[in-house]
Amino acid sequence: MEAESVLVTGANRGIGLEFVRQLVTLPKPPKYIFATYRDRNKIEILKQLRDTCKKTLILLIKMDVTNAEQIENARYLIEDLVRDKGLNLLINNAGVYIRQSIPDTTEENMLLHFTTNTVAPVMVLKATLPLLQQAASHEPPRMNVSKAVVLNISSLGGSIQYKTNNFPRGKLHGFSYQISKAALNMAMKSISLAVEGQDILIVNMCPGWVKTDMGRNAAELEVSESVSAMMDTVSRLNQSHHGAFIDRYGEPIPY
Ligand SMILES: NC(=O)c1ccc[n+]([C@@H]2O[C@H](COP(=O)([O-])OP(=O)(O)OC[C@H]3O[C@@H](n4cnc5c(N)ncnc54)[C@H](OP(=O)(O)O)[C@@H]3O)[C@@H](O)[C@H]2O)c1
Repeated sequence: MEAESVLVTGANRGIGLEFVRQLVTLPKPPKYIFATYRDRNKIEILKQLRDTCKKTLILLIKMDVTNAEQIENARYLIEDLVRDKGLNLLINNAGVYIRQSIPDTTEENMLLHFTTNTVAPVMVLKATLPLLQQAASHEPPRMNVSKAVVLNISSLGGSIQYKTNNFPRGKLHGFSYQISKAALNMAMKSISLAVEGQDILIVNMCPGWVKTDMGRNAAELEVSESVSAMMDTVSRLNQSHHGAFIDRYGEPIPY
């Protein structure tokens, strides 16, 4: 995979941190990784990575994805470094999952998921769109990660088609989360149509069930397995994946 510049949101732990770890070990690592966090007290590992990394400049940026001012500030910092090369890869990874079943769900719980998992990735994309367009404007015309890709970390839980009578009732504790990921998929599918013809590839991808704070220990996959499969798939993305909802291997998931 060859991308000169990458922005990873929620990069201080879990899947986001693992993306940073694996990106810097690529045979041709990015020149710049913009790794965002929201709490200065939780970036020890990121700092170590930054300080030991020789080939990539890892810029740590404070950015709560629900904070418009911090998103704008991040955009300026990125622009300042990448200049007319633009941004090649945006990984909309930051997300929340606070378990709450129906009918007990609260408005607060629903809005937290919608704000963080749906609205925020759209706002981050909106702020960085000029940089993605800049990267996409370079020759030759094609769609791949060397040009401009938006990778949205979505979830199989957001698939409406999977909600059949066979869907385990126990999993309905993810009610708000699942709604927010279905809405994310819809938002990004719509944006993929809006940017059609601009060579910016937009993809919604499920990482699988992963052992992180969110996925918990019972999950099927180590975070390294999930991210290496996703990285491999990202390196193979092309026009046929534009607007798609896929698993970590690139196989389609029904919306
Ligand atoms: N793990 C799984 O099994 C699984 C399955 C399907 C999809 N996913 C998706 O994968 C993505 C990463 O999940 P994960 O498993 O790595 O979760 P995680 O370990 O809980 O990490 C979540 C990350 O998101 C950040 N974050 C949360 N709210 C934020 C906000 N308002 N602003 C900025 N950053 C924020 C967290 O930052 P703090 O440290 O500051 O809280 C943290 O860096 C999520 O979008 C999730 O929905 C995960």
